[in-house]
This record gives sequence, C-alpha cells and structure tokens, in this order.
Amino acid sequence: MTSCCPGREAEAALCRVEDIPDGGSLTAAVAARPVILLRRGDAVWGYLNRCPHFSVTLNAARGTVLTYEGQVLMCAHHSALFRFEDGLCIEGPCQGAALDALPLRVEEGCVYAGDPQAR
Ligand code: FES
Repeated sequence: MTSCCPGREAEAALCRVEDIPDGGSLTAAVAARPVILLRRGDAVWGYLNRCPHFSVTLNAARGTVLTYEGQVLMCAHHSALFRFEDGLCIEGPCQGAALDALPLRVEEGCVYAGDPQAR
C-alpha cells in the first residue's frame, strides 16, 4: 500500500487514485479490517471486504477482487455480483443485500478512509 499521502487524525491514507486499476480493485486494510477499493475513472468507492452471503472476504486469496468491465465486482466464492457505485448485489445468492460502505475522501489524488468501526 502506498503511503504517499499525509493522513489526518481519524483517517488512514490508503493510496493514490492511480494505484487502483481503472475499472478494477485494490485490497487494503483499515483499522485491521480488510477493505476493497474500486475505481472507475476519477470515481473511487470503498467497502469492507466481506461478502454478505457468508461473511467471508470477496477474494479467494490475498490480492485483487475480480471485477467486470468497471461496473461490478464478483465474489470469488459463489459469484455474487455487486455494483461499484453502491455495493448492491444485483445477481447471486445474496441478491438485494449490499456491501458495507467504507467512508472515503479523495483529495489531490490521494485516497483517505475513515474508521469503518465508527459506523
Ligand atoms: S460467499 Fe460471496 S457469494 Fe457466497
């Protein structure tokens, strides 16, 4: 994880926007909790890396989470599809459920996250 950005109190500096593949994902940790960052162009979204189906991480092994055409991410376990923009499951065994959003802020190309446990 890049530590190029100065963080503020109660925020974690995660990476630069360009560290997240455009249309793809990047896994990280905030306050010792696994999170996933998604990017489409200049837009960045963050979620806890926990599938609402079985409460396991969305990726089968450490590393990136599968994405499709910069629109949805797919859980590696039972192929549930989640929209980038709101984390809603649109297809799969947990259809209608959603990922837990991670509070994010982007400033001058740097991505900052709030504490996911403060929600
Ligand atoms: S654990 Fe994610 S779809 Fe089943």
